[in-house]
Amino acid sequence: MPTVVNLDGVLGPAEHARVSVFDRGFLYGDSVYEVIRTYGRRPFEEKAHLARLRHSAERIGFSLKWDAARTAREIARTLDASRGVDPVDPEAAPWNVGERYLRVVMTRGAGEIGLDPALAVDPVAVVIAQPLAGPPVRAYREGVKVAIVGLRRAAPEAIDPSAKTGAHLPNVLAVREARSAGAFEALLLDGRGFVTEGSSSNVFSVSGGVLRTPPLAAGILEGVTRGVVLRLARGAGIGVEEAPLLPEDLEGADEVFITSTVREIVPVTRLGEHVVGAGRPGPLTGRLHAEFRAAAAGAE
Ligand code: PDD
Repeated sequence: MPTVVNLDGVLGPAEHARVSVFDRGFLYGDSVYEVIRTYGRRPFEEKAHLARLRHSAERIGFSLKWDAARTAREIARTLDASRGVDPVDPEAAPWNVGERYLRVVMTRGAGEIGLDPALAVDPVAVVIAQPLAGPPVRAYREGVKVAIVGLRRAAPEAIDPSAKTGAHLPNVLAVREARSAGAFEALLLDGRGFVTEGSSSNVFSVSGGVLRTPPLAAGILEGVTRGVVLRLARGAGIGVEEAPLLPEDLEGADEVFITSTVREIVPVTRLGEHVVGAGRPGPLTGRLHAEFRAAAAGAE
């Protein structure tokens, strides 16, 4: 079966994977997770993802059930078991065909109902492997619409945005708002009106040949793809600024794109009802995506 679940080290089909209704991940979103993808069926930037998983757990004060070495072994076992015929998707981007989406989830565990983390026992570790369904090839060719939603990113003091936790209701509601505006992704502002990030992506602009993205201090997740893009851009001699961005900076930019593990680099050609640049994927976005594709192919 291409979809396989590793639950606490036991591999099985999706329908056999069951977690307690008392698990705090289910009750409170009291969990951390990572989304990793493969190229050539090998996990990409696995070290960076596992380091971020540890960071996320530290930020919310729990110790992971598996260390990085064990997690990497469990990922490899799950990937190995994830064989079989993938559904054919005629819209798929060619580099995604046959690849795997890996979701690693670790919860604080179950226990008596109550918010106190000290009640947690039996932490759970899960790895899900399934066929990767990235954006359709059309999204890369034509670009997508994103919407700046009304829902604001919580203040960093409220919940640390650098921790990738299961407490995702704001992101769910942001996507709901974006979908009702016919948009592919939601962009969230902070309480002061600065651009932070997408519901599950980081955002970049290009103006006058300079690449800009909000700094980590803007209250964002340190995206692994964001890191790769910044590295590739600096290596290619492209001017890079990690600087605060306002919605009007994005609206006036020559190019805008979003990044995430599953999406790589997706050109944004509309911001709400506003056309970005020439309304087509821009040249620097294309160049960076070509560099990214080469780096990913090199990692296979
Ligand atoms: N999301 N910002 C947020 C809030 C995210 O949830 C993600 C990733 C990113 C991009 O990070 P990366 O490049 O490491 O994937 C930025 C994953 C893919 C998800 O939840 O599906």
